[in-house]
Amino acid sequence: MRKHIVAGNWKMNNDLPETQDLITSLKRQKQTSNAEVMVAPTFTNLWHANESLRTTPIEVIAQNMHFAKNGAYTGEVSAAMLKSIGVTTVILGHSERRAYFNEDDTILTQKVNAALDHEMRVIFCFGEELADRKANNHEYVVQQQISNALFHLSASAYKHIVLAYEPVWAIGTGETATPDQAQSMHAFIRQTLAAKYGEDLANKVSILYGGSVKPNNANEIFSKPDVDGGLIGGASLKAEDFFAIVNAF
Ligand code: PGA
Repeated sequence: MRKHIVAGNWKMNNDLPETQDLITSLKRQKQTSNAEVMVAPTFTNLWHANESLRTTPIEVIAQNMHFAKNGAYTGEVSAAMLKSIGVTTVILGHSERRAYFNEDDTILTQKVNAALDHEMRVIFCFGEELADRKANNHEYVVQQQISNALFHLSASAYKHIVLAYEPVWAIGTGETATPDQAQSMHAFIRQTLAAKYGEDLANKVSILYGGSVKPNNANEIFSKPDVDGGLIGGASLKAEDFFAIVNAF
C-alpha cells in the first residue's frame, strides 16, 4: 500500500515564540489515522522545531534548499546544512518558489539532484495555472513539469520522491479542485509515471494534493483512490485544523 502523508507547509509564518506555541498545540493533538505527518517551519525555526518534535512521530521538513554544496550563495541554505540538523526531507518546486523566485525546471532539476545526492527525501510540487486549465492545457503542463525535472532519474530514486499536485488557482484562494478534478489529475500523473517507469513503480509513488485543503473537504478529497495525502498551507497553522485533516484518512 502507498504511504499516506499529510504535510503542513507553514510558509513564511510564525516567529520563534509562535512556532513554540504551535508545536505545544500539535503535541496535544491525537492522531487516529495512519498518515505520516510532517511540518515545514521556516529555516530559522527548523532546528528548534526538530528538537521539540523529536519525541513525536511528526517529522520536521524544509520548505526549500539551494542546489550547491556550499559556497558564495548569500542567503541560501544547502542540503548538507539541513542534514546536519537532522532534517532529511525537503519541499521543492512549490508554486510560490516558481512564481516569486524564478525557479524553473533547470534549477529544480539541480535541486532534486542535490537533495538525492544527500539522501534526502523530496516532496516535488507542480501544478497548472488557471489559464492552463481554462485552455484545457492542464495535463500537458503538469506532464512537462514532471518530465522536465524528474524523468532523468533512475527508477530506484523514486523511493525518495513524493509528488504533490497543487493547482496554482487553488492555493490560498479558498477554491479547491473538486475531488473529481483532483482524482482525474492524480490518475493522469500516475499514468505519466507508468508510461515512463512501469506500473509497478507508478503504483508505489505517493501523490499528494494541495490547494485549500481544509477540515471540511479533506475527507472527500482523501477518499479518492489516487490521492495519497495532502500538502496543507493555511489550515496547517492551527493544530486542531491540521489534525482534523491528518485524521481525515
Ligand atoms: P493552502 O496552501 O492550503 O493555503 O492553499 C497549500 C500550499 O501552498 O501548499
